[in-house]
Amino acid sequence: MGISKAVLPAAGLGTRFLPATKSCPKEMLPLVDKPLIQYVVEETKASGIREVIIITGRGKNAIEDHFDVSFELEQLLVQRGKNDLVETVRKISNMISFCYVRQREALGLGHAILCARQVVGHEPFAVLLGDDIIHSEVPCLRQLMNVYERHQCSILAVERVPRNQVSNYGVVAPRKMGDRLYQVLDLVEKPDPDRAPSDLAIIGRYILTPEIFREIEDTQPDSKGEIQLTDALRLLLKSQTVYAYEFEGTRYDAGSKLGFLKATVEFALRDPELGESFRSYLEELDLERLQPLG
Ligand code: G1P
Repeated sequence: MGISKAVLPAAGLGTRFLPATKSCPKEMLPLVDKPLIQYVVEETKASGIREVIIITGRGKNAIEDHFDVSFELEQLLVQRGKNDLVETVRKISNMISFCYVRQREALGLGHAILCARQVVGHEPFAVLLGDDIIHSEVPCLRQLMNVYERHQCSILAVERVPRNQVSNYGVVAPRKMGDRLYQVLDLVEKPDPDRAPSDLAIIGRYILTPEIFREIEDTQPDSKGEIQLTDALRLLLKSQTVYAYEFEGTRYDAGSKLGFLKATVEFALRDPELGESFRSYLEELDLERLQPLG
């Protein structure tokens, strides 16, 4: 069965970006001129998915408004003859079919995905986490879908990370199966570096079989009371094969301030309109003059 639906959890509080995220969802923070979540939706569409299910929570209405028709804005832009901007704005609401499900309490990634169960039904589906922004020739999700077409099982995107950073990720115990492809023998959420089974970290792109819902239901909350997707995948391993794929591309952790800044600089340098002038600015920047405040 093919993959036609993608779940985008977007109910997180974004505490790392306070006060910017006090009344603005972190998913709406702009990378150059587009909100983070739009990059993820564009990757989903470019991968050939037809329906996006966004898991939202309180204070996230700006996301729905962003992907809706903006009648007044379009009228105003038409009146002012700004046809290219009308096109830009219209494209966003015509992009793909959207469905919103509210997660009433922030009970973890596994719980957020369980909220999509009714809408997904009994078919394999994709999950994309908005904190991971990926620049690649072939969209990262498409790379996973290509692997899924051959193996018909759950597939996790993975990347090698420095050992001292493994405790920020889910980490897999791999058995090499082919070029960039591993069978997952075990996986652990945020292990201590000295107890991690490898340096292959799970990045926020997944293809999941529908049996994951049953496993999430059976997953015990962790010490913070959150139901982790990694723990549910561990249960799934008992009955199904799970693969990990080391995707090709550059990943930015836009959920951290430093990662967000790196993404901003690199996307701005690649921007067809801004790139050249931004590059000249950086080349001329006098770093000595700019010392940290405080
Ligand atoms: C989540 C997952 C983790 C994964 C990470 C990828 O963690 O729980 O397994 O490695 O996303 O970004 P979070 O970053 O939400 O703490």
